[in-house]
Amino acid sequence: MTPPSASSPRSHGHIVVSAGPTREHVDPVRYLSNESSGRMGFAIAGAAAKAGHEVTLIAGPVALPTPDGVQRIDVVSARDMLAAVRKAFESADALIMSAAVCDWRPRRKLAGKWRMKDGGTESASLDLVRNPDILATLAKGKGSRLVIGFALETGEGLRRAKAKLVRKNADYVVLNDPSALSGARASVQILGADGSLEELVDQTKEEIAKALIGLYDKCRAV
Ligand code: CTP
Repeated sequence: MTPPSASSPRSHGHIVVSAGPTREHVDPVRYLSNESSGRMGFAIAGAAAKAGHEVTLIAGPVALPTPDGVQRIDVVSARDMLAAVRKAFESADALIMSAAVCDWRPRRKLAGKWRMKDGGTESASLDLVRNPDILATLAKGKGSRLVIGFALETGEGLRRAKAKLVRKNADYVVLNDPSALSGARASVQILGADGSLEELVDQTKEEIAKALIGLYDKCRAV
């Protein structure tokens, strides 16, 4: 991290936070998505703004009010999110990717409704293609900017989260499990590229958010 310059004595930074799910449309009314409520990312954005930082929140489709002092940009698909996060990150000094980005999207979105065609058939399949990995794409060129990712795991959590930390070139990865997706509280482990490991047990998302912004502030102070 670049230390705050003498001309910015308040040492406030600009953080980009992503939150919520993405939606990958099959046709104009149907899509693939997930259970993410967006609460973790909104709590992070709120905690960052409260700490005095400039915050750009890139939000997938969620029904949550924008925290005070936060600039919010709404997006729908993973590709929309990549474009919005990329642009905001250009002038920021940290990225926190808490969004639950869909890994796959239908190869094509039908212009009209996907119809059963008078009875149709008993089975159907969707041709899916990989979405870009937003975190990995942007962390490649992060330079001295701080990048924090999340890892949602259902087994072998620590091993998989460590692998993600390295593969995606993040500075920290926050390991959690599916119960964290829609709940108000969560237990997480924060793994650092420096080998650090901090555990937060059964905390509110606001408490976890505060801890993450504390990490950012600590990095800026170094
Ligand atoms: N992520 C991303 N772009 C994607 C998928 C994930 O930026 N297309 C980010 C998430 O925001 C999160 C981190 O990568 O910060 C890990 O996401 P996760 O879904 O746990 O991992 P995946 O990379 O999707 O791997 P897998 O689902 O195979 O565990």
